[in-house]
Amino acid sequence: MVKFFGLNKNKDQDDKEVHIDLNNVPKHIAIIMDGNGRWAKERNLPRAMGHKAGVEAVREIVKECSKLNVKYLTLYVFSTENWKRPKDEVSALMKLLVQYLKKELNELNENNVIINYIGDISKLPVPCQEQLIISHKKTKTNTGLVLNLAVNYGGRNEIVRAFKLMYEDIKSKKIKEEDINEDTISKYLYTRGMPDPDIIIRPSGEQRLSNFLLWQCAYSEFWTSNIKWPDFKKEHLYKAISDYQNRDRRFGGLK
Ligand code: IPE
Ligand code: IPE
Ligand code: MG
Repeated sequence: MVKFFGLNKNKDQDDKEVHIDLNNVPKHIAIIMDGNGRWAKERNLPRAMGHKAGVEAVREIVKECSKLNVKYLTLYVFSTENWKRPKDEVSALMKLLVQYLKKELNELNENNVIINYIGDISKLPVPCQEQLIISHKKTKTNTGLVLNLAVNYGGRNEIVRAFKLMYEDIKSKKIKEEDINEDTISKYLYTRGMPDPDIIIRPSGEQRLSNFLLWQCAYSEFWTSNIKWPDFKKEHLYKAISDYQNRDRRFGGLK
């Protein structure tokens, strides 16, 4: 089935119609939600206002991914390096996460969304940890979109953790050296059991991974745009998916 969506006129994007093949929607979309600070700066607002506006974009994109039957949506909320930011910005981000979850939990649950998190949440403020755990518990038996929140997440930190867990299992003879392969390593990551992202979206013009899903992104398609995250609308999501569907994924082989 092919569906046509109109794309808003926007100088950053094509103003043509975008079409999406609903039978070939990416199973796993991962987004580096970037540009909140610059969005605020352009408007002479404090950076926290940019993050607040970013939450609105999260609402819209989660809803659309659910509608499109995307199975996994991983959102980069807070990196292991974001602790370097001023204390008040970090605390504003943590508060926004708690507020978002509190406000949206019932609706997300009604929409069959599973709320999940990846990253070392033990270092987060307690209310934040509690809200993530409550949200996961309430929604874990749902069967729709998995909303995977990467909070205090870093790809390198995830790999270090995997080494440590594996070392413990080798010591206790749960696994042997011969058992170590790409699949077993994947099982020691936060993303255990999830497919690798098909597409990584990064708005705001930056062209880097910033420590996001380093192991998992081996063959992900990368899609960037100059749009800042608070301005990222469903039209941009459709454009990203449509472009993805026109890419030739060869995985090192030949067509
Ligand atoms: C993304 O926006 C949000 C987080 C990193 C938490 P930024 O805050 O990085 O926005 P810019 O990059 O400064 O514009
Ligand atoms: C990546 O964005 C982290 C999140 C979006 C949560 P940053 O803004 O922190 O990345 P850099 O510093 O530009 O690489
Ligand atoms: Mg940034």
